[in-house]
Amino acid sequence: MTRTRTQVGIVGAGPAGLMLGHLLHLHGIDSVILEDRSEHYVIDRVRAGVLEQGTVDLMHEIGVGARLAVEGLRHEGIYIAFGGARHRIDLARLTGGRAITVYGQNEVVKDLIAAREATGRPLYFEASEVAVDDITSNRPRLTCRADGVMHTIDCEFLAGCDGFHGICRPSIPSEQLRVYEREYPFAWLGILANAAPSSDELVYSLHERGFALFSMRSPSVTRLYLQCAPDEDITQWPDDRIWAELRARLGTTDGWMPAEGAITQKGVTPMRSFVAEPMQYGNLFLAGDAAHIVPPTGAKGLNLAVADVWRLAQALGEFYTSGRRHLLDRYSAEALRRTWRAQRFSWWMTSMLHRSDSDNPFDHRRQLAELDYLVSSEAAMTSLAENYVGLPLL
Ligand code: FAD
Ligand code: DHB
Repeated sequence: MTRTRTQVGIVGAGPAGLMLGHLLHLHGIDSVILEDRSEHYVIDRVRAGVLEQGTVDLMHEIGVGARLAVEGLRHEGIYIAFGGARHRIDLARLTGGRAITVYGQNEVVKDLIAAREATGRPLYFEASEVAVDDITSNRPRLTCRADGVMHTIDCEFLAGCDGFHGICRPSIPSEQLRVYEREYPFAWLGILANAAPSSDELVYSLHERGFALFSMRSPSVTRLYLQCAPDEDITQWPDDRIWAELRARLGTTDGWMPAEGAITQKGVTPMRSFVAEPMQYGNLFLAGDAAHIVPPTGAKGLNLAVADVWRLAQALGEFYTSGRRHLLDRYSAEALRRTWRAQRFSWWMTSMLHRSDSDNPFDHRRQLAELDYLVSSEAAMTSLAENYVGLPLL
């Protein structure tokens, strides 16, 4: 058994926990990060791929943007496809030069782990029995078992960055939290394929057979998603069936379709909208997926996690330099304001682009009218563009 102390105890080494650790380091604040999975698992998990302009700018500002600058793919537009045609939305023109960058979450996590290691501050992988205690006191505690030994870490603050299935949110008494939730009657089947992307930009498509998304990870790897049932059995999807469905849903009358190649990864992602309020209880602050989940259609989850920890680091920075709790006290309300804007946008993109069994022909015609309006109205395209590249952090 060991007993140590730190200023901020961080649970979870996903993008939120790792980014928070680095931001705190730059403020001169000490932290310990505990992660229950292995380093290999955390890096290899295939997830997000789209970084907002603000996320990219922040990575550069804090000195973790070197690989992003070389390997990130800056996209100044996206395509919305329906009725057999692709329509380009010029993100950069509509937002005064802002854009998105395609750079896998795996790469972000790898860069943040390297930055953490360079600081020499503690990051424990494969920590089991992680628990938080005394969260309303001035000495909240983290405990875990690592390398066969129980560790107790006395902290001043705790950050719950442990994702949707973590232990921090459930450690807040349920009567102190209000939960807002919506489940969707569909999911995404996602693949990675060794194929050079046949479009320079993402294609979000609504087809009678359902939604499909063309994305990428590098000049030789394509990432694709298909709307499927929430309980879809992946074993019923041999590669040929996946490609046939992608061709049907993404191919346009000008002859464009995704280039095909060996499929190297397949998975089904459920879709939900979820918000827990407030994002603070005592000296425990929640950030990222631990507090909220968005359906992936707007590409907001990772970016919201980054926005939360940026705000939390500013607040802790203020506390440790001046003793003021002003920003800490405002953290939950301000993080939730951004969260709800991202929830609205993600819900809107999802409902515009997916087919549901409960839809009738009226609903489908309304969806097509919405898409038609979107791609022909400067105002509608501007609204999509400013949300998609990311609203300002403040
Ligand atoms: P997580 O990444 O979930 O990290 C939490 C960490 O805590 C994990 O490493 C977990 O192992 C650890 N943990 C859990 N429990 C414990 C415990 N008890 N003790 C210690 N550690 C624990 N977002 C976008 O912005 N753009 C996209 O394009 C996008 N696409 C997506 C596509 C898919 C298929 C999926 C699944 C998600 C996508 N997202 C996207 C969402 C994005 O991946 C998440 O929002 C993001 O990972 C949130 O980061 P986080 O650090 O809050 O949580
Ligand atoms: C990707 C994921 C998304 O959720 C999205 O909206 C766009 C791209 C991706 O994984 O590349």
